[in-house]
Amino acid sequence: MPEDEVVITPYRDGPLLVRGPFTLQDQDGNAIEVGRKTVALCRCGKSRMRPFCDGTHKVIRFKAPSTLEDGRESPASARFQRDDDART
Ligand code: FES
Repeated sequence: MPEDEVVITPYRDGPLLVRGPFTLQDQDGNAIEVGRKTVALCRCGKSRMRPFCDGTHKVIRFKAPSTLEDGRESPASARFQRDDDART
């Protein structure tokens, strides 16, 4: 993996692991300090320190695959809402 590449890995039944030179910010553009090059972002929605994972996904037995859900569109054909549209 090149040093300047950001890689996001959805872990089976767990968080999104983000590795690389990323910047994390809230929807208003305010920086969220991370202080490291690898971070686990909550995917289950139940962490008490969102947006970070605190391990609660194990307690609630969160289930999600590491790959696309069966029957879902691939990202190449899925429609994504533009960032600007989300703020209005
Ligand atoms: S994914 Fe770990 S607490 Fe939500």
